Amino acid sequence: MRLRAPDSGVRLAELMAALSIATDLGMGQPLETALRTCVVAMRLGEALNLDDGTLRDVYYQALLRYIGCNSDADALAALMGDELALRHDFAAVDTGRPPEVLSLAMHYLRQASAGQPAYRMAALVARGLLTLPRVMNESFAGHCEVAQRLAGRLGLAESLIVCLGQLYERWDGKGSPRGLKGEAVAPAVLLVSLAQDAVVWARIGGPDAAVVTVRKRSGGAYDPRMAERFCEKASTILAGLDQEPTWDSVLDLEPGGRDCLTDEELDRSCEALADFADMKSPYTLGHSPGVAALALGAGRRCGLVATDVTALRRAGLLHDIGRVGISAGIWGKEGALSEREREQVRLHAYYTERVLARPAPLGRLGALASQHHERMDGSGYHRASVGQTLSPAARILAAADAYQAMTEPRPHRQAFSADEASGELRGEVRAGRLDSDAVHAVLAEAGHRVPPARRERPAGLSQREVEVLRLLARGLSNRVMAEQLSLSADTVKHHIQHIYDKAGVSTRAGATLFAMEHALL
Ligand SMILES: [Fe+2]
Repeated sequence: MRLRAPDSGVRLAELMAALSIATDLGMGQPLETALRTCVVAMRLGEALNLDDGTLRDVYYQALLRYIGCNSDADALAALMGDELALRHDFAAVDTGRPPEVLSLAMHYLRQASAGQPAYRMAALVARGLLTLPRVMNESFAGHCEVAQRLAGRLGLAESLIVCLGQLYERWDGKGSPRGLKGEAVAPAVLLVSLAQDAVVWARIGGPDAAVVTVRKRSGGAYDPRMAERFCEKASTILAGLDQEPTWDSVLDLEPGGRDCLTDEELDRSCEALADFADMKSPYTLGHSPGVAALALGAGRRCGLVATDVTALRRAGLLHDIGRVGISAGIWGKEGALSEREREQVRLHAYYTERVLARPAPLGRLGALASQHHERMDGSGYHRASVGQTLSPAARILAAADAYQAMTEPRPHRQAFSADEASGELRGEVRAGRLDSDAVHAVLAEAGHRVPPARRERPAGLSQREVEVLRLLARGLSNRVMAEQLSLSADTVKHHIQHIYDKAGVSTRAGATLFAMEHALL
């Protein structure tokens, strides 16, 4: 029997379902649109008696259809304004009908050039309309190429990668990127397009609107046999979508085996998702792997246990996945942000937590990742957590993100030199916003000289061990200590053993007396 590497506790389908939440955000769709599309597509696929291999492609195509969505966000925002609002509206358009596409484009081009003198606005709109076909083609082709490359890195099947190359193809040959026609388009592609439109139109006008739209577009965007079957069975195919817990329904529908990803596979997937997140803006390319590398090294320097170090690296890779839900126009804005735009920016940390909320092993990563803008004095976001509630890992992640971001250019400033970034970070420590141990570890990891010794504590205890000792002396259980200090139970156990070793004691009572002797309480 072949020995399998250790499981990460996360199924491929679970990771893809989580990613689909991120792509809903990136496409300006209500959360769980892709999950609903997956349910509808699988029901229709079964009604059409598709074979298992095709159903598997349908399943993942529905979840991953838009993993290339960040590839053109910046260019689209520059031309059309809020690309998320545009994409939201575009989802209801029939791309085979130029008047529909043009009318939507006109609306956004006008909005994007609002406030300009009339002659300038007219010129901008005219130029926008002229470049529209090229922009759309490039945009669709870019979505496909990026989706295919990311899917390859996520270890998905070759047949699915072929489907992702045909994302915007249509039955009538009027699609992109290659204008394939009829049977030349993979059935999974046509079926998922239909399912997604049905979900969008059912939301707009109920099941009847979905049937009317599918019937109207039969033979255009969709294979007529699929459209006919959908219209026959629409009431069962669309039944209960609003009431059912879609996450569970989608996971129950996964075709084939339900193996967990190995630890190594999860690491590789996190690396791919880091690139997915960083593509949102040209200013953040390479940002997340940079944060992950600094956080990993700093975590080791701080003596975190191996499981916490692994979590720290993964959280570093995933921390900005929520950026996808904020318009690229805001990330790329050169001037000062308005109050509303600042509020949007603060949301990205929450979105990271939301995308990674399920299943539990991802939820733990999401909770840590979403704390990367928290500050020790409670001035950070999105929860405005304070000092003691931030785990050592969260403090390190915040310091690593701050350092990495400072050494990268942003629209309103040049990149800081390494020395300037180091000075800024030390300033944050003096101001009480970043943790000194975390900053020193990050700076050391980045190659800076840092003070070798911190203030003396008895028996060489670290600051964190003193915090554990105080709670230990008060008789709290390991579980309560872990909760209060935002640590894992393993880390608390690890700290207690260190305290015992360093203090030369072997019981809680001995440790309590040690704390009293050294006035640590
Ligand atoms: Fe961030």
